[in-house]
Amino acid sequence: MARGSPTTEPTTACWRVGILFSATGVTAAVETSQLGGTLLAIDEINAAGGVLGRRVEAVITDPASDPRAYRRLAEQLLVEEGVRLLFGGYMSSTRKAMLPVVEAHGGLLFYPTLYEGFEYSRHCVYTGAAPNQNSIQLATYLLRHYGNRFFLIGSDYVYPYESNRIMSDFVVQSRGRVVGEVYVPLGAPDSAFGEVMERVREAEPDVIFSTVVGADTARLYAAHHAAGFDSRRLPIASLTTSEAEVSLMARGIAAGHITAAPFFETLGTPAARRFVAAFKRRNGMHMPVTAAAEAAYFQMHLAAAALARAGTDAPGDLLAQLGGCTFEAPQGRVRMEASNHHTWLRPRIARLDADGRFKVVWDAGASVKPDPYCVVQNLDDWPADGRQFALS
Ligand code: ACM
Repeated sequence: MARGSPTTEPTTACWRVGILFSATGVTAAVETSQLGGTLLAIDEINAAGGVLGRRVEAVITDPASDPRAYRRLAEQLLVEEGVRLLFGGYMSSTRKAMLPVVEAHGGLLFYPTLYEGFEYSRHCVYTGAAPNQNSIQLATYLLRHYGNRFFLIGSDYVYPYESNRIMSDFVVQSRGRVVGEVYVPLGAPDSAFGEVMERVREAEPDVIFSTVVGADTARLYAAHHAAGFDSRRLPIASLTTSEAEVSLMARGIAAGHITAAPFFETLGTPAARRFVAAFKRRNGMHMPVTAAAEAAYFQMHLAAAALARAGTDAPGDLLAQLGGCTFEAPQGRVRMEASNHHTWLRPRIARLDADGRFKVVWDAGASVKPDPYCVVQNLDDWPADGRQFALS
């Protein structure tokens, strides 16, 4: 099952952690970047002497973008390998497949991916963005700069349906309209995306909001280009189109399209540059650095800090130490919110240039408290300067 640890020799006096990122399947590109972020953090922790003098040892698996494999491997890690802490998952279908076995066997899952919110588990720590940390900002930006007619397209699984529902709520609150909503099976052929573009043409939207994931993203953007749409007038906006998906696109296809995320490879801050340089040294110059990789990186550091305080990887004790933990992450300071096990993150929006590189066009300027149930968030709560719940 395990692909072994490239970072350490197994010893009894180490902290063994289970890693579940796909090297194959539809989301392999972005999950490979998440594995790269995870292993970089483990290298750094071990180079600094480990945690309480014990090295961190990764037991790495490849669940092949298949929710059933995530569940099976999570159970094997917890039961057969005796691991208590799991790090991994990209598609929400994979997280939802793992959580029942993580809960049943008393483990703790660190999940480093943006998701649809509306979830809480005492056995899960969420380090990707919740909708109040990306969707609300993206909706505000698109309504202000492009118009209020939205066409929604997603991959056919739980995250796209839920994320599109949340985006629809924000749009309708602003007297906008959803003029089309289409779902495409994972791995659909080029022709499926060509047909979607015909529906887009008929609906005449101002913006396309995409919740398509993984390798399918490149086919969606190619179909938009082939249909002759101009991304300056009708962009695709997304939360799931990262540097990894752009790396799968032909040159020029990505230009003008928009993504909201807490981190981009092109961020110019010293912390971001140091991280990107170290990531490329560790994982190869050509591996894209994504927001999901950054979350995978800082969540391992947060876990190590909590481990050092708790002195045990017993999930309840670790969770008690995680609440309120901060880390100077590549995106800026992040903090674990004790009340819901989600993370304070800094929203940003970027547009892709002609070379397929993200250029930040809007930055919240501060971290935003995670509100996974969108209890206090709607567009009216979001001030024009974008600042809200600033992290001091
Ligand atoms: C996702 O499925 N949470 C991207």
